[in-house]
Amino acid sequence: MAEINPYLSNLSKKYLFPLIEERLHDLLLKEPNADVIRLGVGDIALPLCQSIVEGIKQAADEMGTNPHGYGPCNGFSILRERIAKLEYTSFGISSDEIFISDGINADVCAARELFARNQKIGIIDPAYPLYLDLTRSIDNSEITLIPLLEENGFLPIPPATGLNLVYLCSPHNPTGTAMTRENLSLWVNWALKHQAILFFDAAYQAFITDNDIPKTIYEIEGAKKVAIEFRSFSKSAGFTGLRLGYCIVPFELQASGFPLNPLWQKRQDIKTNGVSYISQMAGIAALSEKGLQETKEQVALYKEEGFRIKAALQAAGFTCYGGVNAPYIWVKIEGLSSWDVFDLFLYKHHILSIPGVGFGKFGEGFIRLSSFVTKDTVDKFILRIPQIKESLCELI
Ligand code: MLT
Repeated sequence: MAEINPYLSNLSKKYLFPLIEERLHDLLLKEPNADVIRLGVGDIALPLCQSIVEGIKQAADEMGTNPHGYGPCNGFSILRERIAKLEYTSFGISSDEIFISDGINADVCAARELFARNQKIGIIDPAYPLYLDLTRSIDNSEITLIPLLEENGFLPIPPATGLNLVYLCSPHNPTGTAMTRENLSLWVNWALKHQAILFFDAAYQAFITDNDIPKTIYEIEGAKKVAIEFRSFSKSAGFTGLRLGYCIVPFELQASGFPLNPLWQKRQDIKTNGVSYISQMAGIAALSEKGLQETKEQVALYKEEGFRIKAALQAAGFTCYGGVNAPYIWVKIEGLSSWDVFDLFLYKHHILSIPGVGFGKFGEGFIRLSSFVTKDTVDKFILRIPQIKESLCELI
């Protein structure tokens, strides 16, 4: 008899994002005409930039005349070389340390496969729910939650004792805050001391505008010995539907004396056939001079909407964090559970958010709003703030 994976089947809750979609579906069944303002999942709201659309069309034409079959499983060298040149030249990372994938989720799952079962794993809390659910779905690894607290500016503090693997994310989803150079250095030094590996999720790096926030962990001395960095085109260039990402596995990175770069290559050779030609060509278009200009402007538009959401809430007396170097605003609402606030926003005011506790127990007392929205959406949201305020005052 086939036996199922007990760790996967024992996961108690549904995954966060389908849960949110279910509640939205529930509302729309009851009120099909509800004009829902979607500030929930961080999905794109603007069309792909023109240069990317042209890149896709050109790639499709090529496939219709002179088709490309299987490509290299770690991605076309032209794309990897472009990424290395644009993003990593100053940090001595070469194209052979870059592995192309269909996004960060796939890479984070792949990264876990490189290490033994039953490790000591550190996970920041609140965090992107994949880290915890992935960890629990595999084995009995000992999990240490690393709280991100308001009083610490939501910066993670390394634990006194060692761990084997730690998930970090900056700019951070969901609080919208970002690790400073000093904070990230603490982690790199801690990992060097304890021979730990850091999984550094940099999905939102394109939103960084403050100079004291590192855009890559490799800005920190020693990081190449301890960190795998994950990046994506989803948030920087609107590829959530196209799928394209990459991770950096430096040559210097080792675990129990084994270099991880060739191990990752071996894993990719066995388990993937690479990413679609069209997505990779779209990625090259996004990294062309025109593509970089257009995507930068698009990110700036999302950032502008984030500033407006945050400013309007603050003017109404809400305490808000994030929204400066990241596309998320973390709103503090005390006196109700974050699921109650989520329900109030959705069912009474037709605003889709994400409850903070969905990202971990230290997210209780907050909700997350996404700034991946258009100006019209934010205009409508701002008009609803006085009614939200009134309902909250009645309840708290
Ligand atoms: C989020 O809303 O947290 C993410 O954008 C969803 C995702 O990237 O999977």
